[in-house]
Amino acid sequence: MNMAEVRDQICDVCHKMWQLGWVAANDGNVSVKLDDGSFLVTPTGMSKSFITPEKLLRVDEDLNVLDGLPGCRPSSEVKMHIRCYQERPDVGAVVHAHPPTATGYAVAGKSLDEYSMIETVICLGSIPITPYGTPSTYEVPDAIAPYLGQHDVVLLQNHGALSVGCDLITAYYRMETLELFAKISLTAHLLGGAQEIPRPQIDKLLHLRENYYHVTGRHPGYKKYNGGGEGRDDPRAGL
Ligand code: 13P
Repeated sequence: MNMAEVRDQICDVCHKMWQLGWVAANDGNVSVKLDDGSFLVTPTGMSKSFITPEKLLRVDEDLNVLDGLPGCRPSSEVKMHIRCYQERPDVGAVVHAHPPTATGYAVAGKSLDEYSMIETVICLGSIPITPYGTPSTYEVPDAIAPYLGQHDVVLLQNHGALSVGCDLITAYYRMETLELFAKISLTAHLLGGAQEIPRPQIDKLLHLRENYYHVTGRHPGYKKYNGGGEGRDDPRAGL
């Protein structure tokens, strides 16, 4: 894609996020890595419904603004985005939003780690909550970094959600999958509790993943974060 197409795609994703009710006021931010190693990022303090191509800023890894309209500054969470690219050379785009059901889990302190729905088991596996961090500070990138090696989607404690992908559509789809699974999980709990898929079947699904041509990124395998259980392996332990 050329630069104009990338800018249009970022705007399209921003508008979708607002229409879906994943963001209010200036919530959320989006970035894409460009071929020259710089990044296009949404401006700080602006509704995602109002983002237009010329309002996006181009920044380098050291947070210098290379291109941007006067009066527009990069997202205050750009440090979190840059850390994703630094930790994961395979990542080409990062999406941060506050989808309400997934963010409800982040606020309640509950990871989404039930292996109960086939599509989520294959695409994402468990979705952990990363430790609390003050927005816009290095606390947030430091909190997420230990999880990025195994996860493409994480919940941010008391804050929202973050997804990464090889391209923007992939990162966006992962946020959609997260929010849909959070809704399904909540509904299942209202109905008396989710029934987890038996472990041998989970292993088959994870094997299947290797043959899904559209599945890229990282996967934690079978891993539990909510209070013990087989496979528990929390990267926070020992930090
Ligand atoms: P920005 O407006 O600086 O991108 O911040 C929005 C946000 O969601 C902070 O977490």
